Amino acid sequence: MTDSNKTATLTVHGETYELPVHSPTAGPDVIDIRKLYGDAGVFTYDPGFTSTASCDSTITYIDGEKGELLHRGYPIDQLAGKSHFLEVCYLLLYGELPQAKDLEQFETTITRHTMLHEQMQYFYRGFRRDAHPMAIMVGVVGAMSAFYHDSTDISDPHQREVASHRLIAKMPTIAAWAFKYHTGQPFVYPRNDLDYASNFLRMCFSVPAEEYEVNPILSRAMDRIFTLHADHEQNASTSTVRLASSSGANPFACIAAGIACLWGPAHGGANQACLEMLEEIGSVDRIPEFIERAKDKNDPFRLMGFGHRVYKNFDPRAKVMKQSADEVLDLLGIEDNPKLQVAKALEKQALEDPYFAEKKLFPNVDFYSGIILEAMGFPTSMFTPIFALSRTVGWVSQWKEMIADPQNKIGRPRQLYLGETTRDYVDIENR
Ligand code: ACO
Repeated sequence: MTDSNKTATLTVHGETYELPVHSPTAGPDVIDIRKLYGDAGVFTYDPGFTSTASCDSTITYIDGEKGELLHRGYPIDQLAGKSHFLEVCYLLLYGELPQAKDLEQFETTITRHTMLHEQMQYFYRGFRRDAHPMAIMVGVVGAMSAFYHDSTDISDPHQREVASHRLIAKMPTIAAWAFKYHTGQPFVYPRNDLDYASNFLRMCFSVPAEEYEVNPILSRAMDRIFTLHADHEQNASTSTVRLASSSGANPFACIAAGIACLWGPAHGGANQACLEMLEEIGSVDRIPEFIERAKDKNDPFRLMGFGHRVYKNFDPRAKVMKQSADEVLDLLGIEDNPKLQVAKALEKQALEDPYFAEKKLFPNVDFYSGIILEAMGFPTSMFTPIFALSRTVGWVSQWKEMIADPQNKIGRPRQLYLGETTRDYVDIENR
């Protein structure tokens, strides 16, 4: 944390308090209120944490006004265009782009950890076949703490490292097996001669009855989807992982908590909700009706894949995703995909509408990702598991950063209590 000489002055009940102000390397200054309750006896109030920095971090930076996303300083469009997912994983975990030999070693380590404990198959079989793959993922990832006891001691840096590698390496297998179980097909084991994205595609789409050839363009698009979702600073699921971990919980339990949070339609579930919305709209001529509904205060309908808590200009990931959608549909020969047509027309019409401009609502990363995933052959229920797979490295990097931070203490927000004050218990016959 960079200390500045700046201070903020706060007057409460006639008393004045000087609060330290910290200057980040980028972004707005931060008023340090840690001693406020001790000194002034008041709390701050910020539901939804819209103005609260919950930690300091060196991993990811977002400038919502500029539409900028940096991982360890590198812009996301450069990483999506020139790098690949495992190199981005290394960058997020260790802070620098790897030398060639370090990358090779990292890739080998991840590749060698992709198999699941054989006993975990039986764990899958306990779920109903129609279970949502996210329900299976929450369960299976949480259960990893029962299968990998030798990487649950968070006070041991080596065990933390092994847990990080296991989570990143096994998540594609876990997600692919959730898909296979859901569809009633046999589990497909990972193959060490394939890269991360190709391996995932093969585990999802190959069947014992027939060889599966991974198309390099699809594998590149898959890798790009992983890269674009890899981390996003202190979003809801990452904050959930940090809060769970602040109690000292084991890494698998913490990541399972992150997956559970990601599932919601306001967060990772938005890509599924967005595709379902495009399906419901169905044709370009129905768009105005849905735009009117999104603007109507009395209608709970929102344009899914639109808006973001932080990006108030554009989501830089959405641009790359839109380009990928065009490439993939072109490759697959899916011309005039009706959902893509509706998506493009909806984006155009919404952006021309003053309501969306005034509220700074733009397409987010999920607006186009669902179209690509569907064209690849994934059902909508797999969209959020793929997001969870991609975000695992972000959760793990933030978790590692937090555990190594000497300031780390249990997360315990305060509240603005509006309930009853003390009153005496009344016996049931007298109520
Ligand atoms: N459609 C229509 N109106 C919207 C939308 C939308 N998608 N998003 C926000 N608004 C409006 C709200 O009604 C509100 O209007 P008001 O000021 O008149 O009350 C205003 O814009 C601000 O909205 P908030 O919900 O207060 O903004 P917040 O920053 O809390 O929400 C969120 C961000 C949750 C992403 C929201 O924009 C949304 O629900 N979007 C749709 C879901 C979605 O796409 N989520 C994916 C997020 S990205 C990710 O997780 C990878």
